[in-house]
Amino acid sequence: MSSISDARFLAEGAITVKGRMPWSTNVTLLVELSLEGETGHAIYKPRRGERRLWDFPPGLFKREIAAYVLSEALGWGLVPLTVARDDGPHGEGSLQRFVAADFEQHYFTLRERPEHHDRLRRICLFDLVANNADRKSGHCLLGEDGAIWAIDNGLCFHVDDKLRTVIWEFAGEPIPAPLARDLERLLGTCGLDALAGLIDDDEREAMLLRARALLDEGTFPTDGRDYRYPWPDV
Ligand SMILES: Nc1ncnc2c1ncn2[C@@H]1O[C@H](COP(=O)(O)OP(=O)(O)O)[C@@H](O)[C@H]1O
Ligand SMILES: [Mg+2]
Repeated sequence: MSSISDARFLAEGAITVKGRMPWSTNVTLLVELSLEGETGHAIYKPRRGERRLWDFPPGLFKREIAAYVLSEALGWGLVPLTVARDDGPHGEGSLQRFVAADFEQHYFTLRERPEHHDRLRRICLFDLVANNADRKSGHCLLGEDGAIWAIDNGLCFHVDDKLRTVIWEFAGEPIPAPLARDLERLLGTCGLDALAGLIDDDEREAMLLRARALLDEGTFPTDGRDYRYPWPDV
């Protein structure tokens, strides 16, 4: 058991690249962190390794951090701790706590188990608020701690409606009252100062408008036409 907090490890650990993660579309690296004789793992996404996209500006790694900030502001703890580092071996980028997970599990297997539904509803709402354009099944990890973690959140916070997700199970259900209260609290903007410099002001405003619209509607949206899935979906 480490005596060093995850926050210190990520902020101060010396970074050694161990390898590139399978299934990654960007340069997504498994790194070892070492600090004061202790070691741990993290996921390093250097800006330089980002695939160019026509609709998002470079610097997707900042959106990974913004997603962590949003998850914390909601009080849901869905996104593993994610911080910026400018001294990585491939330059600036994000470092995210590595989740020791059962990589056989993903959304389509987890949704079969009712005990996960509360957490999955939160991830669903998080994606709706964040406007996640890429919630694949494999971006829900079942940690050894028993919690489901939402990873790969770089394609979030666009001002235009970009929602693509595999999580449509809850469409039409009322938003549970405790989660609605968390959304209300978000609109009070406490905890959102940390978004400055990560996403633009208009992106932040658009996010709050989405949260407001969800509260006014009171239900998980249905897509009307056909549900918009990412490709590939796992
Ligand atoms: N924090 C994490 N903990 C454990 N595994 C992770 C974490 N982040 C990513 N991975 C693994 O690495 C793979 C690639 O990461 P991902 O974030 O999807 O990269 P990309 O942005 O390149 O698509 C994921 O499918 C997942 O298996
Ligand atoms: Mg991915």
